[in-house]
Amino acid sequence: MVRVTFVTHEGARKTVEAAEGDSVMATAIANGLDEVIGECGGSMMCATCHCYVDEAWADKIPAPSGMEKDMLECVLEPQENSRLSCQINVTDE
Ligand code: FES
Repeated sequence: MVRVTFVTHEGARKTVEAAEGDSVMATAIANGLDEVIGECGGSMMCATCHCYVDEAWADKIPAPSGMEKDMLECVLEPQENSRLSCQINVTDE
């Protein structure tokens, strides 16, 4: 089992167990993190799963696809480390 730590806008940290292959978005929702909505179910249509990936982990996940980059242009307060959490799958790494 892999552990993922979420940090809310208020700075609260919540570390949860995640199944390999599940998306970070699905992991957040399954663990009651209300900040992640995932309205489109992971089809890159809503950006309600926007998150910031900690710099320590940025190079451990694949780069965003062109379609994800396009969607990230629509999010509020985009940053260099902005990602759609529905497009990040949990792996051992
Ligand atoms: Fe809709 Fe990620 S859940 S874009």
